[in-house]
Amino acid sequence: MTKQPDELTVLGIETSCDETAVGIITGGQQVRANVVATQFDIHAKYGGIVPELASRAHIENLDACMAEALAQAGLDAEQARAEIDAIAVANRPGLIGCLLIGITSAKTLSLVWGKPLVGVNHIHAHACSAAIELPADRPPWPAVALVVSGGHTSLFHVRSPLQIELLGATIDDAAGEAFDKVASILGLGFPGGPIVERTAASGNSQAYTFPRTLLSRDSLDFSFSGLKTAVLYTVHGPGKTTGGLERLCPQDIADIAASFQAAVTDVLVTKTMSAVEQTGAHTVVVGGGVAANTALRQALTGTCHDRGITLHLTPMRYCTDNGAMIAYMGHQLLVSGQIDPLSLEARATS
Ligand code: KG4
Ligand code: ZN
Repeated sequence: MTKQPDELTVLGIETSCDETAVGIITGGQQVRANVVATQFDIHAKYGGIVPELASRAHIENLDACMAEALAQAGLDAEQARAEIDAIAVANRPGLIGCLLIGITSAKTLSLVWGKPLVGVNHIHAHACSAAIELPADRPPWPAVALVVSGGHTSLFHVRSPLQIELLGATIDDAAGEAFDKVASILGLGFPGGPIVERTAASGNSQAYTFPRTLLSRDSLDFSFSGLKTAVLYTVHGPGKTTGGLERLCPQDIADIAASFQAAVTDVLVTKTMSAVEQTGAHTVVVGGGVAANTALRQALTGTCHDRGITLHLTPMRYCTDNGAMIAYMGHQLLVSGQIDPLSLEARATS
């Protein structure tokens, strides 16, 4: 008997960067498992992600994540084989070596279980992650989607999960990358976003006036490299890249972190509202690791409220990389018949 869309169960695998993750969703909405293994400890001492180490860690972590996800969903091996209807996997964009680990596992499961394989665009999954757990009969689309992650900062017009139009993207650093680099400049550690946020909590966001780069008037592209350089010169002195951190006290560092966070937030909110005006959308959805940032969440909440725009912030557990968002997108693609052959390839770009 053929299953209805709301009965289909999809397993989603995510290994595009430094999180190994597996999610299981039934009906495109009921999250039965969402297991994420982070690699912070491995990369912290390098101040950034080392691709080769990330790939190896995916190999080591993926089996355990899979077993944990099946256990969370209450499925033993035989039940998993019987109940799971498709294997979705992030196959683009990302670090090639990392993507290949997830893709190889997904292909193996697809072949052994005889279930369809569905390649998912990781950034599109972030763009739609606010819809996970929303009632299936009341999706947030059409919406402007702001995706703010470590590798990408993009605005999309999402008419549906299958109709996603890119409106603008960063021309240099991504917002999360800027957080990570500023954390490194301030000697705060890795990953930068959560640490900068914690440090900023005791700082004055108006202590420093950092640039808000908006590019041309109607542009929906982003640029954060000037902001990062402004922080660098504030710490070390104009034109200098070292030697200044020692003379800053903890309050100075908190003030710089808070002022930087305010500048990023201003730009993200301004551009998102510009996208709303240009598309005529009445709804905004926000996803990606930086969407976990409380200052950004509060600023978007206030601005959307003032303008009568409906805002769906992705629940925190689905902001940073996770398997549930891959399973969610996999479900949408599966239902529309968009499945992939076993020759599915990893792609560094979208
Ligand atoms: O989406 P994600 O998990 O991975 C990518 O697809 O890149 O995003 C990771 C990024 C990192 O740059 C991290 O520093 C940032 O999200 N991030 C945050 C916060 N939590 C994670 N940035 C600002 N505030 C946070 N609370
Ligand atoms: Zn991501």
